[in-house]
Order: sequence, then structure tokens, then C-alpha cells
Amino acid sequence: MSIHIVTNPHAIAPTVLLPGDPLRAQHIAETYLTDVVRYNEIRGMWGFTGMWKGNRVSVQGTGMGMPSFSIYAHELIREYGATRLVRVGTCGTMSRDLHLRDVLLVQATDCDSGMNVSRFGSYQFAPAASFDLLRRAWQKAEELSIPVKVGNVFTSDQFYDQKGEEKMTLAQSVGTLAVDMESCELYTLARLVDIEALTLLSVSDSLLSGEQVAPEQRQTTFGSMVELALATLFE
Ligand code: HPA
Repeated sequence: MSIHIVTNPHAIAPTVLLPGDPLRAQHIAETYLTDVVRYNEIRGMWGFTGMWKGNRVSVQGTGMGMPSFSIYAHELIREYGATRLVRVGTCGTMSRDLHLRDVLLVQATDCDSGMNVSRFGSYQFAPAASFDLLRRAWQKAEELSIPVKVGNVFTSDQFYDQKGEEKMTLAQSVGTLAVDMESCELYTLARLVDIEALTLLSVSDSLLSGEQVAPEQRQTTFGSMVELALATLFE
């Protein structure tokens, strides 16, 4: 039993979807899964296990930012035997080619994280998606006619960042498409412990125009992304 996820050792499936928001975890479980059991309530960071088309799957909220994400991912892997982690989240676009409501399959991550500096020092580690999951997500998106883009995300430690403009200009200059706050930690941990990982993001806001997707519209785009994630994992 771990500190932040407290349940029995077999309550969580080897494959886990990871939204940041625990209410979104509940929404995913109630909308897409059957035979749902809520296995974690600590700090309101809900986790659920259920079935999707005969396959056992869990959905765990992670909170925002790499340190919070890391705690949940770490416990899922080390204490509950998770072997496939798929983040389903939102991002802010910084590219004219990535629009509000688009779905981004994250190939690799840039970041300004203190976590990877403390892990790797001057070694330039390259956090990247598991190729097989990325390939399958791309193929499934074509089959399901869900338009997706593939590219890199900048995982930022700060949502409100005094140096945000400067960092965005640098990220744009190397072709990075969007910003989130968690994916770098997923891809780093996955490599460190040799599990499979992928991030799917729907674009909720634009750093270029300041526009945001209205909360009621977010659910729709988010829904097709979750269906794509599940089909990628199990079909
Ligand atoms: N910045 C950082 N993370 C995000 C954003 C953003 O604009 N939108 C969704 N996640």
C-alpha cells in the first residue's frame, strides 16, 4: 500500500488512463467503462477501475504539474504493477498548425523542469513516447477518422511564468507545438522503469490568441480523444 493511492494490491489494472483532473477521471469511468469500482479517495484524487469491451482498465487523476503527476505515476508503477500509462489531458497551442479542439499525439517533450535537472544534471535526456503506442494511436486515428497531429510538447513547471514569452519563442523556433505541465515526467519515468507510455492532448486554449474552448465543448473533444486512447490500447 502506498501513501497517496490507498487500495488493495490488485485493485488497479496494468493499463491506466491518466487525466489531470479527478472529476474527469470520474467522467471517463462513468461514460466509457462498465463494472466501475472507485479504488482511491485520498486527497480527492479519485481512481477507478472498470471494463472496456472486455478489457480491464483503470483511470487515475494525477493533479497538475510534474511533481504531482510523478507521485501518482510512481505509485501506480511501483506499488500496483502498472505497465502501460496513457495521459489524456489538455494543452495550450503555440503553433498556427494546431488549433483549438485538435488532438495532439505527443511524440517527445521539451521541458524547463527542475526535476530532470536534478536527475540528469548536464546530461540531455530525451523523453519520448513508446513507439508502438504512438504508431497504434496514429493508425487507430486514421481508422476512426479522428483527425490528429503528431509533434512535440513543451512541459512547463509554471503555468504563470514571467519568462513565458521568451520560452515560447524558443520552443516555437524548434517546432514545438504546444504546452502542458505533465508529459515530460510521464515519458521520463516510463524510460527509467521500462514501461509503455503515451500522451494524448486536446487543445483547450491558445497562447497565440488567448482563446479558450468553453467547458461544455471541452467534454466533446475530450471524449473522442478518450475513445482513441482506449481503441489504441485494446483493439
Ligand atoms: N499552459 C500549460 N499547461 C496547459 C495549458 C497552458 O496554456 N493549457 C492546458 N494545459
